[in-house]
Amino acid sequence: MRPPMLSLRPVHLSVLVGVAALALACGGNDDPASHAPGPVDLGPPELDDDLPRPLAEGRAPTPPMGWNSWNSFGIEVTADDIKAAADIIVSSGMKDAGYEYVNIDDGWGAPHENPDAKPPIPAERDEDGRPRTDADFPDVAELADYVHGLGLKLGIYSDRGTETCGHRVGSQDYTEIDAQTYADWGVDYLKYDNCAADENEEVKRMQYGAMREALDATGRDIVYSICAWDFNEWGLGMGQLWRTTSDIIPTFAGDASDPMGLEAEHTILGIAKQNNAFAAYAGPNGWNDADMLEVGRFGDDAESRAHMSLWAIMASPLIAGNDLSIMSEATREILTNTEVIAVDQDALGIQGVLVKTVGDLAVWAKPLNESGVRAVAIVNKGLEPSPSVTVSWTELGLRAGNAEVRDLWQHADLGTTKDAFTATVPSHDVVMLRVAGSEPTHPKGNVHLGDFPWIYAANGLGPVERNRANGASAAGDGMPLSIAGQPFAQGLGVSAPSSVIFRLARNCSRFTATVGMDDAAGQGSVEFHVLGDGEVLWESGIVKKADGAQSVDVSVEGVVRLKLLVTNAGDGPALDRASWGDPIVECGPG
Ligand code: GLA
Repeated sequence: MRPPMLSLRPVHLSVLVGVAALALACGGNDDPASHAPGPVDLGPPELDDDLPRPLAEGRAPTPPMGWNSWNSFGIEVTADDIKAAADIIVSSGMKDAGYEYVNIDDGWGAPHENPDAKPPIPAERDEDGRPRTDADFPDVAELADYVHGLGLKLGIYSDRGTETCGHRVGSQDYTEIDAQTYADWGVDYLKYDNCAADENEEVKRMQYGAMREALDATGRDIVYSICAWDFNEWGLGMGQLWRTTSDIIPTFAGDASDPMGLEAEHTILGIAKQNNAFAAYAGPNGWNDADMLEVGRFGDDAESRAHMSLWAIMASPLIAGNDLSIMSEATREILTNTEVIAVDQDALGIQGVLVKTVGDLAVWAKPLNESGVRAVAIVNKGLEPSPSVTVSWTELGLRAGNAEVRDLWQHADLGTTKDAFTATVPSHDVVMLRVAGSEPTHPKGNVHLGDFPWIYAANGLGPVERNRANGASAAGDGMPLSIAGQPFAQGLGVSAPSSVIFRLARNCSRFTATVGMDDAAGQGSVEFHVLGDGEVLWESGIVKKADGAQSVDVSVEGVVRLKLLVTNAGDGPALDRASWGDPIVECGPG
């Protein structure tokens, strides 16, 4: 396989055309240079002094990393397999690279009791109600000791229903006993599944919540991994991670015959696309789980590289799933690429997002915990090597001008380049970079944010729209922006969950806007939140279309980064088109 090609082509792009370049790029034009009037003096780079931020407190300040038995061993897993995997996590360098949890998935529990079976399946619990283990797991406490002795942590798996997906003992009606049993065994992590259970949404929420409470009541620090196969807003603050999709398969892309095309469900690209919609919700101690890694389980190392890059840029938990006893050196190198892992584990905890697509190429970007620095992944989903694609710094939420570029798979500094770079990506492969440049120039005077460059924009359905409502699909597909019958020439059209971050650089004093469900919205409900450097400045409460418009007028004195967040209000993301009408910051002249 040919390595990805990267050429650094100077592209002259002024600050003035930055927004235009962004809009044009969303429309499919990947060459901002063709619209630039010529170079201007950009002045010295602007950098903020509040980064890097310290690591958050809590059980999962960065996305959990580890290994899980399911993808390679399935229901047949044994305690010896788990010990062997733990040994290799140490000897292979995975532990040093950050892999910490050794997770037993389905298969450790006794088969689910069935007195009607012939011969009958005996009791799955002992006389005290504690779960019995399968014969292959004679002593989980001893296994935990073994794993802890290696400086690693042990994860286990159960299910909110009567039985697991593999027909083993489930935790329904035994939540407290099971949580206490895991704690007594020395378990550090629980993945909690969704099979054989009441599908009523309220019951589901209560059962997942009951296990969180039961784990807390044990007094042991246990990471809680909600595995409900789709995103549930009630999982925020309950789990440290939550699955956003159905089960992953070791297939990179679908094919054209599938209704979802190359981004078919279960595939790497399909899962990345679905997971991207929830980016606004991710952060320290609460991560969107794009499911376990299939790295090393494809025929092709390039696909593994691209998969690893996507999971890292999305700040997904990195839970390897390959059979470590047969791991190739290439797979080991991919899983232990500390430069890529550093993107995933970045303490700022922002989930990277898709910023543009050009043909078969998708460009993803993630702000890192260092001022003026972004990670970038360019993935080719097509079967042909890509034509070259140009990505401008402004598309990454940076300012035009000089930036240093490093290739995270080649482990090579590529030097300083101006305004943009151009890359060629082979089929089913990736180019992953770290770009260190300048933050965008801060607003001066009274500035309409509908026209001002953002440094990050995540959105539930389709891209955030400038000066029009969100159409929930392609760029520019929304109606004119309108709230409660009042049209707005300027603003931001979003679809919950959405997070748009602007850099104010402590130069602004007030933020004002009119917010509400857009007149183009349906029966959804959302909540608007205005945050300054992580602190909540204003919240709307639950807003439905019938509630009309609300005015926001808050001080943003001293704020470096202003975050305009819209969450959905517990009734799912459908029809949650929300608008920020006339979002204006009042700022100093300099
Ligand atoms: C479900 C989960 C998988 C795995 C299996 C085990 O399908 O989503 O990740 O845990 O159950 O049976």
